[in-house]
Parts: sequence; structure tokens; C-alpha cells
Amino acid sequence: MLELNGVNSFYGKAHILRDLSFSIDAGEVVSLLGRNGAGKTTTVKSIMQLVRPASGSIRFQGDELTRLPTHRVAKLGIGYVPEERRIFTDLTISENLEVGRQPTRAGVFEWTEEILFELFPNLAERRSNRGKALSGGSSRCCRLRER
Ligand SMILES: Nc1ncnc2c1ncn2[C@@H]1O[C@H](COP(=O)(O)OP(=O)(O)OP(=O)(O)O)[C@@H](O)[C@H]1O
Ligand SMILES: [Mg+2]
Repeated sequence: MLELNGVNSFYGKAHILRDLSFSIDAGEVVSLLGRNGAGKTTTVKSIMQLVRPASGSIRFQGDELTRLPTHRVAKLGIGYVPEERRIFTDLTISENLEVGRQPTRAGVFEWTEEILFELFPNLAERRSNRGKALSGGSSRCCRLRER
């Protein structure tokens, strides 16, 4: 489903990902483990094309992702939950969820506010609170709808 082959990514002259290759099948749950600074976030950013790999191939369901703009990668169905908060601090929790709503697509499970609030009841209680009032963990729950 997702296949990286010989990926090399840099920040300036710093060579971070060196010939990285792995593949993930549909239905697999995969964790990337490594010491701080090992390149886990850079790997995910390279998949999303937030970092542009200098060489190598990244294919998702047959589509080559390298050199696609990030929004096209997202449209192909890859979600990215950044470790930073990245929510709109002056919008309410409900409004933040609405902003991230993706158009309905055939065969793609659709998050609704109700489903998310069932999973995270403490967000439901605070749906009218502004984003800036959320803890770090809660703000990441709020971003989970970007699957
Ligand atoms: N924007 C950047 N500019 C320059 N160097 C960067 C940048 N982001 C990360 N790095 C460097 O790239 C290397 C890999 O960083 P990365 O964030 O991918 O690590 P990580 O495995 O996610 O670490 P952590 O466990 O701390 O989250 C580190 O040496 C880091 O200092
Ligand atoms: Mg990281």
C-alpha cells in the first residue's frame, strides 16, 4: 500500500534519511521507533512532501508521491497529525473540527463530530471552548479527524 525505496532527505547539507526503504500493507499498524533526532518525523514529513526527498521513490497505492504538492498527497488519502498543536486558537473546538472536514469520498470512512466526541468525551463537554484552552493531548485528539 505504501512503499518507500531508497529515500534520501536533507536539511541543507545535513543528510538525515539515508537510502530508507520499507513497505506497509493495507491493514498493518506500524510504529517507527528511534532515538531523538533519528529521523522519524522527517520520514513522515518526506511521505507528506513537507520535506522533499532528494532521491528515491515513495509510492502510495501505486501513485508516486515524490514531487507532488502536499495537498495532493492529502487528497490521495494520507492524513498527518503533527506533533505541534496546529489548531486555530481563536476558534471553538466544534469550529476547529468543521474547518478540517473533508468532502465525502466513496469508500472512505467519514469522521463526524459525534463519532469523535464518543471517543473523546472530554472534548464534547468543551465543544464551545476556544482551541487555545486545550491541553496538548486534547488538541491532538481534535486533529485526529484528519485521517
Ligand atoms: N527544520 C529542520 N532544519 C534542520 N535540521 C532539522 C530540522 N528538523 C529536524 N532537523 C534535524 O534532523 C534530524 C532528524 O530530526 P527528526 O525531527 O526527524 O527526528 P525524530 O526522530 O522525529 O526525533 P524526536 O524523537 O525528537 O521527535 C535531527 O538531527 C534534527 O536536529
Ligand atoms: Mg519527531
